[in-house]
Amino acid sequence: MVATVMETRRIGIIMNGVTGRMGTNQHLIRSIKAIRDQGGLKVGNDLIIMPDPILTGRNHDKLKALAERTGITRYTTDIDAALANPDDEIFFDASGTLQRAGFVEKAVKAGKAIYCEKPTAVETSEALRLAKLCEDAGLKNGVVQDKLWLTGLRKFKLLRDQGFFGKILSVRGEFGYWVFTGEDADQPLQRPSWNYRKEDGGGIIVDMLCHWRYVVDHLFGPIKAVSCMGATHIPTRMDESGKPYECTTDDACYATFELENGVICQFNSSWTVRVRRDDLLTMQVDGTHGSAIVGLRKCWVQSLGTTPRPVWNPDIDQPIDFFGGWQEVPDTTTYDNAFKIQWEEFLKHVVCDAPFPYTLREGAKGVQLAELGLKSWEQRKWLNVDPL
Ligand SMILES: NC(=O)c1ccc[n+]([C@@H]2O[C@H](COP(=O)([O-])OP(=O)(O)OC[C@H]3O[C@@H](n4cnc5c(N)ncnc54)[C@H](O)[C@@H]3O)[C@@H](O)[C@H]2O)c1
Repeated sequence: MVATVMETRRIGIIMNGVTGRMGTNQHLIRSIKAIRDQGGLKVGNDLIIMPDPILTGRNHDKLKALAERTGITRYTTDIDAALANPDDEIFFDASGTLQRAGFVEKAVKAGKAIYCEKPTAVETSEALRLAKLCEDAGLKNGVVQDKLWLTGLRKFKLLRDQGFFGKILSVRGEFGYWVFTGEDADQPLQRPSWNYRKEDGGGIIVDMLCHWRYVVDHLFGPIKAVSCMGATHIPTRMDESGKPYECTTDDACYATFELENGVICQFNSSWTVRVRRDDLLTMQVDGTHGSAIVGLRKCWVQSLGTTPRPVWNPDIDQPIDFFGGWQEVPDTTTYDNAFKIQWEEFLKHVVCDAPFPYTLREGAKGVQLAELGLKSWEQRKWLNVDPL
């Protein structure tokens, strides 16, 4: 018997803007550190990819604290020096949306593979420009589309592929929760204040329609047209330093998507809603043969044969236990963190040329839907989603 020799391939990753909420929790701790802690990413029987991050940002003390907390040895505030190091092949950006273009441009010039948070920009033309920059330079590139790997969505997709739902008719997405304004002493804000300022790249339409684009495209079909209404329900909030500021962008969004295959999807997204549903995101999918409630980790289904037969009668208490008539889809495999799974896909793409369809060009489609959503609200009309 010939013993196979495991090769360990180090891959240097410049992780920028990583002291922020997403960078720290999802990308560094739950993804890159987790991959390192598990002994690297095993590919086949003879290769281990070992990510070796360098943390970059503006604040030395914050970077140092994060590095110490996560056991990462390399960090710097000198992004140009980091980009000049040929031993670090990947540039990842989780800085602010409006900062993204500048960093991506620099990293493209330095010849790095590019991976970044969504949205890549707030305008489609800019998102496409960044995609083209990467393509023209022949650089591998990708955008975070984490929701695709959420356990609940994977369970739904399994049943969809097995034909459980028959013909899918409609989808009702409810996303959101109450984000505290910071005005009440014991209820501090739980999301960064820039999210509520347009001038800083905020707004729930820009934020969430990017996600709904790839979720809908992948699970239900290509989007043909959009109608969207936004609102700034709460006009002032307190920032991180306790100073009041004016909310200059939408904190709720009521959107309808018409798909090419006739499916109608309605998605409510809101930072001003209290939760009385199964999860922070739920999608109810109704089909001719069955329905699903899709949450972040769980998925419940009801088949045509087990659908109760309600009769309208407001004079008596409801005799049917509607919640009791749904069955939870069991776990059938292990489900890892969604961001980590996508990171692993990207690492295999860079190191082994594995396919990675979640490119900056794909990400631009999300920006396109967001931009059309904003226009639809402003013009109070349905708008077609043309192919990019
Ligand atoms: N995939 C998702 O589900 C998801 C969820 C939330 C946010 N995001 C996206 O992730 C990005 C970051 O969002 P967040 O919620 O972590 O915000 P955040 O404010 O917590 O983090 C932003 C980080 O970028 C840093 N930064 C800002 N300007 C910089 C500059 N010029 N140079 C270097 N660093 C800079 C900040 O210091 C901070 O560390 C945004 O683009 C946002 O749209 C994605």
